[in-house]
Amino acid sequence: MEKVLVKASISYEILIDKGILDRTGEFIRAVKNTGKAAIITDDNVDKYYGDRVMKSLESAGFSPKKYVFPHGESSKNHTTLLGIYDFLAENGYTRSDFIVALGGGVVGDTAGFAAATYMRGIDFIQIPTTGISQSDSSVGGKTAVDIGGGKNLVGAFHQPRLVICDTDTLDTLTPEFFSDGMAEIVKHGMIKSAELFDILSTKDIKANMVDIMRRNVTIKGQVVENDEREKGERMLLNFGHTLAHALEKYYNYTGLTHGYAISIGMSTFTHIAERRGMCKAGVADKLDALLRKCGLPLTDNAPMDELFKISLGDKKHLANGMNIVICPDIGESKIVRMSVDEYADFLKG
Ligand SMILES: NC(=O)c1ccc[n+]([C@@H]2O[C@H](COP(=O)([O-])OP(=O)(O)OC[C@H]3O[C@@H](n4cnc5c(N)ncnc54)[C@H](O)[C@@H]3O)[C@@H](O)[C@H]2O)c1
Repeated sequence: MEKVLVKASISYEILIDKGILDRTGEFIRAVKNTGKAAIITDDNVDKYYGDRVMKSLESAGFSPKKYVFPHGESSKNHTTLLGIYDFLAENGYTRSDFIVALGGGVVGDTAGFAAATYMRGIDFIQIPTTGISQSDSSVGGKTAVDIGGGKNLVGAFHQPRLVICDTDTLDTLTPEFFSDGMAEIVKHGMIKSAELFDILSTKDIKANMVDIMRRNVTIKGQVVENDEREKGERMLLNFGHTLAHALEKYYNYTGLTHGYAISIGMSTFTHIAERRGMCKAGVADKLDALLRKCGLPLTDNAPMDELFKISLGDKKHLANGMNIVICPDIGESKIVRMSVDEYADFLKG
């Protein structure tokens, strides 16, 4: 089993291996002596893994109960959140108890925010089951729900006590969601590790998933350790995201998933950067080849002037311009500050 230690405001381990879901109770017992477990999950994940986690927590003496909500981004909202609070209160959960977030980024973000706020904050454990959540969202303590005004607008920083990453759970994802999760993994290679990028490009990805996830969470963990509250280096994780957020908003968060949007954002910005001499020749083609291998899209027909307007709407508070992440080479990244006019010009290609 691989173990990665994240030294954030609280330190915690990420345990990574195939088939470790049935040892959930034993792993949690090592960090929690007391308390009852509240498993929060969605209906898809529950069908595959709910019973296994429940049994493991029962065997370890955590008297678990389970709250299941409908899958999908449309559940990441205050209605689900209030449902979780009621469930916790009705079942007598107190500050010494804890939440187990079992699922993808939607479950992790929503259950994590419930943990950050119920009784002013209780412990939570992440058991991520998608590519995005295993490689990215379960590490770093960003939790949030969406509101009418936008995605992730209400949230909190709340670090988990432990992350249990069973890479076998990725086997039950649909091919589309498997591809979707690969986008953040490719992103980590692009911004920080030519070695990871090379493994992804040349090896059998599924056969090497434990090693790939270890490298991913190590990168994410280090960035979080250096900049937990996203004031500097953590912005590098936004590579591909400026355009992706505009695209997701353009499609009203339906039809284009997060990973697909990031893939288009990374490819588009890297091609423009290369044409403008901000990035080494050939990088964009190598990136495109890997994104294609992962089954991810490279382009979209949404008009750039619309995406530009949406980007500005997102960044109203940045009167002096915006931070764009560029990769000058594979495994290297930097933040480029652009004025609104410079960004408009950049988007022209
Ligand atoms: N907190 C952060 O730092 C951070 C970072 C990146 C993304 N996010 C958030 O993550 C969310 C996206 O996460 P996601 O891509 O994991 O989406 P998701 O949680 O909606 O999961 C995708 C789909 O796969 C299903 N599913 C999950 N695990 C499964 C499994 N093992 N087998 C079968 N089906 C399974 C889910 O029910 C869902 O239908 C977004 O809301 C995004 O904002 C947060």
